[in-house]
Amino acid sequence: MVDSAEGYNYSIVKYFMVMACIYLVIGTGVGVFIASQLAWPDLNFDIPYITFGRLRSVHTNTVLYGFAGTVLVATAFYVVQRTSHVRLWSDKLAWFTFWGWNIYMLGIFITLPLGLTQGKEYHEAEWPMDILLAFVWVAFLINFTMTLAIRKVSHIYVANWFYLSLLIMFTFLHVVNSLAIPVGMWKSYSVFAGVQDAMVQWWWGHNAVGFFLTAGFLGIMYYFVPKQANRPIYSYRLSIIHFWALTFGYVWLGAHHLQYTALPDWTGSLGAAISLAMIIPSWGGALNGMFTLSGAWNKLRTDYILRFLIVSLAFYAMSTFEGPVMSSKTVNALSHYTDWTIGHVHSGALGWVAMISIGAIYHMTERMWNTQMFSVKLVNLHFWMATIGTAIYITSMWIAGIMQGLMWRAYDDYGNLSYTFVESVAEMYPYYVMRTFGGFIFFCGAVLMLFNVIRTIRQASSKTISANNQIPQQS
Ligand code: HEM
Ligand code: HEM
Repeated sequence: MVDSAEGYNYSIVKYFMVMACIYLVIGTGVGVFIASQLAWPDLNFDIPYITFGRLRSVHTNTVLYGFAGTVLVATAFYVVQRTSHVRLWSDKLAWFTFWGWNIYMLGIFITLPLGLTQGKEYHEAEWPMDILLAFVWVAFLINFTMTLAIRKVSHIYVANWFYLSLLIMFTFLHVVNSLAIPVGMWKSYSVFAGVQDAMVQWWWGHNAVGFFLTAGFLGIMYYFVPKQANRPIYSYRLSIIHFWALTFGYVWLGAHHLQYTALPDWTGSLGAAISLAMIIPSWGGALNGMFTLSGAWNKLRTDYILRFLIVSLAFYAMSTFEGPVMSSKTVNALSHYTDWTIGHVHSGALGWVAMISIGAIYHMTERMWNTQMFSVKLVNLHFWMATIGTAIYITSMWIAGIMQGLMWRAYDDYGNLSYTFVESVAEMYPYYVMRTFGGFIFFCGAVLMLFNVIRTIRQASSKTISANNQIPQQS
């Protein structure tokens, strides 16, 4: 794969980008399978390696590290080069990140089905893999920062600020939550115990959401929305306020995952209060992205890539309104442990993270191969499949979650529970089938994208080859 005419290292971006498309197909494919297992438990086949419990973490790790992570590296390397007007600082370090990242993913596919896990959500991989990820991540951090340091323009574009906050915070989070005492090659115990362990885990957990699934993707928003719309960002000043408010606020939220637990009560209240305040920067950012289209909304009629980017902002606004509501103790008493949380997760994950990534992937494909997508109709079809699939997924989970919460707290006149737990599980069947169906539509869209991207690359490459083969005209 070739680099750009300006001398930027596009090869590394291209490899990461294609891998992101592949991981999206695998991650959502496993997602559909585990969703089916919840509806039809016979699909566990009594084979330990493919039971729901093991495949669930394969799903989360594939979509988070495999897909979202590779999108973050691809876009960060693309954006930092283009906005700094300079080639990546080190090609070797970039390839180290690429191979390290994929070896890490290979480890995920082997160890998690075997049941080798630390049992920490989104941080299941055992200690040797934690060390590998730390090296790979720090290589990414150094390369990105050094590229900024040698930039040829005086100011640092705001998208890079968001990437930097992600890079610095994730290093810190990953190292602290990985602190463990190994007792064998594939077994370790966390250095934290009891309540501290829970607190550290959810301090990590929410910042994984806040920095990995939000700050980095806001970096994508601040670069790709103005580029695709061909307009400057609505307010640069607002983007700076957005950056500082978000970076300062997110680190305080973790305790909202642990309401009504052994944690001191005030920590949950503090988490809820700051969560509520987070509506302001989150909505400020979403509106900043959307208003970038002021006066040019008509572009949405014809530009399907822009549609992905703008609809993702609507989902971002929705999930960052829902999250603070769920943080309040009254709502959390109903929503916690139910599928409402799963609905919230996927409105953010599918609607925001996946949609903005898909928009960025289509944008980069056209720019880096200097061509049009092989089929614009397929991009449009993908847009509708992703939107409808997400809507079906999250609506079914909202209904399921609220039903569960209400059934669990219903009492009869004598003070006995009105429903047994098993009755609430049986009631979930239609909603689990509906979720599987919505997820399947989303998954088919991901397969279409992989096909469309590969055909576009082949089409662009064959044009380049035939152009190179033409006999130069005598002048
Ligand atoms: C201001 C923004 C947000 C706030 C205040 C917030 C708040 C919350 C709350 C209260 C929960 C439920 C905790 C529980 O009862 O266990 C939750 C769960 C979750 N949220 Fe959010 N949320 C926000 C935005 C987002 C976004 C944008 C995403 C995804 C991109 C996201 C991903 C998640 C995930 C993955 C979980 C599940 C964690 C788990 O239990 O495994 N959140 N969030
Ligand atoms: C076809 C699309 C997808 C389907 C069918 C699907 C399905 C599922 C299922 C069945 C679960 C387990 C729910 C449970 O334990 O009750 C789950 C969990 C999860 N999924 Fe997905 N998923 C999809 C796409 C994604 C994507 C693209 C992301 C991230 C970018 C994602 C992130 C997560 C996370 C973070 C959890 C853990 C939630 C929690 O602990 O509260 N999923 N998914």
